[in-house]
Amino acid sequence: MSVALVTGAAGGLGAAIAARLTEDHAVLLTDVNAERLAETAMKLAADGATVAHAVCDVSERASVQAAFAIAQEQLGEVTALVNSAGLGRFGPFTELTEEQWDRTFAVNTRGTFLTCQELVRRRAGRPGAIVNIASVGARLGMEMLADYGPSKAAVIELTHVIARVGAPSGLRANTVLPGLIWTDMWRATSEWLIANDPACADATPEDIFARFVGQMVPMGRPQTTSDIAEMVAFLLSERAANITGQTMSVDGGVVMT
Ligand SMILES: NC(=O)c1ccc[n+]([C@@H]2O[C@H](COP(=O)([O-])OP(=O)(O)OC[C@H]3O[C@@H](n4cnc5c(N)ncnc54)[C@H](O)[C@@H]3O)[C@@H](O)[C@H]2O)c1
Repeated sequence: MSVALVTGAAGGLGAAIAARLTEDHAVLLTDVNAERLAETAMKLAADGATVAHAVCDVSERASVQAAFAIAQEQLGEVTALVNSAGLGRFGPFTELTEEQWDRTFAVNTRGTFLTCQELVRRRAGRPGAIVNIASVGARLGMEMLADYGPSKAAVIELTHVIARVGAPSGLRANTVLPGLIWTDMWRATSEWLIANDPACADATPEDIFARFVGQMVPMGRPQTTSDIAEMVAFLLSERAANITGQTMSVDGGVVMT
């Protein structure tokens, strides 16, 4: 069985991606949140999936290398990688600090670079497949996402580079842009708006999310974690053997290209 490594696998989306991938792969789940990671992995193992887990901070090279080593030891050589670890907070452009900018890029962009480089080095001219999770926020110029959007836009271009580096040996790399999914990330965003935007003060977090969906998504409904997980599973599979360097939105029409 091929081996996939998923970052951010304790998160709303990463956990769903890891669960879907267990249908086709042995999966190493990784995250910085040790407790939620162990719970997620234990649930999948109890359902009969072939999984292992490793605490991993994607912004640190040594931590990334250790996770790949654990995968190799416990499951076998990693041939597929999904980067779902990410940070995203709302905040006005004029108040964005260097620290916040740097931390967002350290996780979203450097983290993706480090894991992709590790996989490409380990595959050393052999096939493989990568899916990097960016965001529609990479394409919308949203003032409140002045660090997050650019950090995800860089992931798109990094994925183009990896696709070219890997193409001669059949190592593919694609980016998925999720739309709006109700996870901890959106809950935190909605709570921030309730605390900071008088127009949101009387709303619930669920109301705020529904408002954004209504304003942004032409199809008028949020995306689900399984919408995204299906696209990831497809892009990692042989069904996508001739697809590389692409950016696929799964967003109900938020970004049309
Ligand atoms: N929820 C959405 O609407 C949405 C939309 C577009 C893109 N995304 C992207 O999807 C991905 C998953 O987001 P989510 O909605 O599941 O949010 P989430 O907050 O539930 O999950 C993010 C996960 O990343 C982990 N993480 C944070 N820093 C890390 C680090 N340094 N190393 C390793 N793991 C780290 C967190 O512990 C968490 O488990 C993110 O990259 C996010 O930017 C989400």
